[in-house]
Amino acid sequence: MSEPIVTGSEPELEAVGSALAKSLSFGDIIFLEGELGAGKTTVSRGILRGFGYRGIAASPTYTLLELYELTAHRVVHLDLYRITAAIDLEGIGFRDYLDGQTICLIEWPENGAGFLPAPTLRIILEYAGVGRTVRFEPSIGRLNLS
Ligand SMILES: Nc1ncnc2c1ncn2[C@@H]1O[C@H](COP(=O)(O)OP(=O)(O)OP(=O)(O)O)[C@@H](O)[C@H]1O
Ligand SMILES: [Mg+2]
Repeated sequence: MSEPIVTGSEPELEAVGSALAKSLSFGDIIFLEGELGAGKTTVSRGILRGFGYRGIAASPTYTLLELYELTAHRVVHLDLYRITAAIDLEGIGFRDYLDGQTICLIEWPENGAGFLPAPTLRIILEYAGVGRTVRFEPSIGRLNLS
């Protein structure tokens, strides 16, 4: 696990996500972990910005899934906060995106335990006073090094 990076504001945390985008590659499965409001969507937005997305990256809290067809990558952003059963994920066609190409950003992955693949990278967010810390835990065996 990496040393914690301390961020004092939303733009700072978003910048961490943008910088991380350069290190991601096809088919990466990213788990975003941390309690309510810990900054999971902020990091996701940063990653999308890092890939050149300039629109509004809304949190897919109600839709479960947002798809971004970007120049360099196809990215799906999932928020499993409200998921109650694996069938919900099947219903939105999530399996189709486990194609070894699409980058998956998954908030609340613990709610998908048992039907999500293992992550290539876990991003762990924690409250630190008014700011947030972020740490990275890559799964060496699953990292796509191509
Ligand atoms: N580094 C930071 N320092 C202080 N506040 C932050 C930081 N990053 C994000 N925030 C603020 O925290 C709030 C929640 O952020 P965000 O929506 O990214 O959290 P989340 O983990 O996705 O929440 P949820 O569990 O609801 O999905 C926002 O109001 C945002 O401005
Ligand atoms: Mg969120």
